[in-house]
Amino acid sequence: MIGTLVFVLAFLAIGLSVVLAAMRSGRPPAGSKKETRAQRRVWSVGIAVVIVALGVTLPAVILVNNGEDHASHGAGGVQLTGAQTNGRALFAEKCSTCHTLAGSHAVGRVGPNLDTLNGGNLKPAFVLDAIKNGRASGNGQMPSGLLYGDDAKDVADYVATVSGR
Ligand code: HEC
Repeated sequence: MIGTLVFVLAFLAIGLSVVLAAMRSGRPPAGSKKETRAQRRVWSVGIAVVIVALGVTLPAVILVNNGEDHASHGAGGVQLTGAQTNGRALFAEKCSTCHTLAGSHAVGRVGPNLDTLNGGNLKPAFVLDAIKNGRASGNGQMPSGLLYGDDAKDVADYVATVSGR
């Protein structure tokens, strides 16, 4: 949405600068005053501003917009918090090899499918417990202590939010 607007504005700006440049070029008609030094400076500053706006600001705005959108878009249209976005990245690294979770495009089959486990209704505390203690006292296939502290909490929060979506 914002991207489209910026795009249209950019083309308006290009069109406008072409028209202005065309009007400006050519010799001044006989009798009219020559451009002063100050006027020429205004022109070059104006052109520099347009170039910076198109070449730097426009890509930057679009990049920032896209980046934010994708990173925080959870499955099923959920908007993720910063912590959950962190959790999503960690899940991909530490959990996706063994677990299926549609929200992370994870298809691991070693552990239970986290979309269907308990009907996709997982509580953060339950996931956190699995991360902290592992299963089978850490001697099973789900090891304990894959993550600690805030990282463990972020992943638990993320999984609970997107499971079953
Ligand atoms: C090496 C493979 C492996 C990895 C890596 C792994 N798990 Fe597991 N996970 C398992 C297995 C196997 C089970 C089933 C263990 C059982 O029930 O005894 C399991 C069970 C679970 C359960 C359900 C526990 C229960 O009581 O039913 C949750 C939730 C879970 N894992 C979350 C995670 C999260 C989050 C991560 C990443 C931090 C992760 N797992 C990483 C293999 C793995």
